Amino acid sequence: MKILQKNRMEWTIAAMALIIVNATVHAEAPAAAEKPVYGEYKDWRVLGVSHRLDKKFVRAIVGNDVAIGAARSGKTMPWPDGAIIAKLSWKEKTHPNWPQAIVPGGFVGAEAMVKDSKKFPETGGWGFGHWEGNTLVMNDKEKSAACFACHTPMKDHDYVYTAPVLQ
Ligand code: HEC
Repeated sequence: MKILQKNRMEWTIAAMALIIVNATVHAEAPAAAEKPVYGEYKDWRVLGVSHRLDKKFVRAIVGNDVAIGAARSGKTMPWPDGAIIAKLSWKEKTHPNWPQAIVPGGFVGAEAMVKDSKKFPETGGWGFGHWEGNTLVMNDKEKSAACFACHTPMKDHDYVYTAPVLQ
């Protein structure tokens, strides 16, 4: 009887251990598979959208809270320090059930403009960067200068092309 009880006890512990191992494996597997690749900007709100005919990209331009606050109160001349604007690009494709609709296809990448007038005085107060997964990586000075050069036609709009569409 005692042996039987001990045996049963051992089996119970073994079964519990298995359940725990199983639960751990199952709890981790989907988390790893669903790891977000779009970074923090996926929770930000819309400033605008664009469709680049030359590159065949569709884009969403979103902003962090500081950027959205500035856009909605019309205080974007200049944009305040702390504003971050993200430009998310997808290859264009036609909707499989409605070919007249151009919709996002494969994700191309996410670029950033970060307003910090003390840190980036040489490029209009804007730092230029891009996201690698969840991490915002700022470009070096040379690359930022190339970004900035193409944004200089927008000098009168604080170097930002996007006109916020939701006030
Ligand atoms: C050849 C010109 C050109 C270059 C180079 C360029 N941009 Fe832009 N950028 C644009 C145009 C035009 C828009 C607005 C249309 C659009 O959405 O593509 C824009 C929009 C943006 C926006 C959204 C805010 C805005 O100004 O409307 C961000 C963020 C941005 N670019 C980041 C970058 C970064 C980072 C680089 C450098 C790695 C860069 N850009 C280089 C032309 C350029």
